Amino acid sequence: MTLAGKRILLIISGGIAAYKSLDLIRRLRERGASVRPVMTSGAQAFVTPLAVGALAADRVFTDLFSREDEQDVGHIRLARGCDLVVIAPATADLMAKMAHGLADDLASTILLATDRPVLVAPAMNPKMWSHPATQRNHAMLVGDGIRFVGPTCGEMAESGEKGEGRMAEPLQIVAAIEALLDDGPKPLSGRRAIVTSGPTHEPIDPVRFIANRSSGKQGHAIAAALAKLGADVTLVSGPVTIPDPSGLQVIHVERAQEMLDAVLAALPADIAVMVAAVADWRVADAAGNKIKKQPGEAPPLLLLTENPDILKTIGHHPQRPALVVGFAAETQNVLENGRAKLERKGADYIVANDVSPETGIMGGDRNAVKVIGKSGVAEWPEASKQDVATQLAALIASHFA
Ligand SMILES: Cc1cc2nc3c(=O)[nH]c(=O)nc-3n(C[C@H](O)[C@H](O)[C@H](O)COP(=O)(O)O)c2cc1C
Repeated sequence: MTLAGKRILLIISGGIAAYKSLDLIRRLRERGASVRPVMTSGAQAFVTPLAVGALAADRVFTDLFSREDEQDVGHIRLARGCDLVVIAPATADLMAKMAHGLADDLASTILLATDRPVLVAPAMNPKMWSHPATQRNHAMLVGDGIRFVGPTCGEMAESGEKGEGRMAEPLQIVAAIEALLDDGPKPLSGRRAIVTSGPTHEPIDPVRFIANRSSGKQGHAIAAALAKLGADVTLVSGPVTIPDPSGLQVIHVERAQEMLDAVLAALPADIAVMVAAVADWRVADAAGNKIKKQPGEAPPLLLLTENPDILKTIGHHPQRPALVVGFAAETQNVLENGRAKLERKGADYIVANDVSPETGIMGGDRNAVKVIGKSGVAEWPEASKQDVATQLAALIASHFA
């Protein structure tokens, strides 16, 4: 019950993604929040107040000039009687109204009258999202302190078009709400952290690459756990299929060299946690065109060359973060290899794990790690990657206590 007792005012505006707000209401209520819905007239063309009200177990507010509600200035009561205002989906139209302070219906009037934090989940056609007017409105709203989750990239439900503009999934919105309403201790507040995550893709030619089985689950969870403790986190992610964690800056890269450049650009920092499974080698001379199979010819020989060592570079950098943590994915001699890495890379901790296929760790949801420090080794029992991340973030925080 991560949202027990929290009061969410959910504004649903008139986009096709309004059907997802029904699921969002369920997810919020499952976590103990109460949801008070407000629907624009556009929203009511997509989902009915009956369905929204039934799922929220509350009445649905739709009308600014309601004789019944406005006897005690209901829009002000709604605007203030909650812990957070969430707009999901947020149309281009409602964002424009907010940015310019218009208040011509119940939703926009509440948004002008509220003194609570506001979280916006935009949903619209990619052309509407990338339109200079929407981008201007978005920048103005960010400047006004409005928080955003999404939009994400993908296929549009209504048009089959692809691009940026899809509403964040309900669980991503829930995670953003949990992060915003989290009133737990923030021992890493004021600290900057860089986390790398996922694999790298090293091109062979424009269509083929060398990769590994890293999913990014552990690195992303660590980035989120550090942010939860108040750190200002930059996550440098290789190509993964999991969503970006909310509430932190994410930089997407493909190759090891790009990952190193992004990490160096994020310095100075207090904390570096290098979780990514960076390819040790890349193809020395990646082909500019697709390598063609020629009848009668032998397969091509790939000459490999060494990639930059990101952990070692950071561990010996003039702007070395105060705390440097590296990961060691090993299939044999986990402890010895991890210990040697601690020394060689200039790290304060090496988190070593056995990624032999039978452990199911690489790509899986659980992890069993040995945390190797200068003063000894701690073996943590097998746990979810989330729990390992929480424990590691607490260990990191203890260094700054
Ligand atoms: C089928 C259909 C789908 C629409 N989908 C979206 C959408 O996803 N996002 C958006 O910003 N507007 C969308 N619109 C346009 C809005 O409904 C329109 O701008 C409306 O005035 C928004 O009103 P509201 O912001 O008060 O809810 C759609 C319109 C139609 C007819």
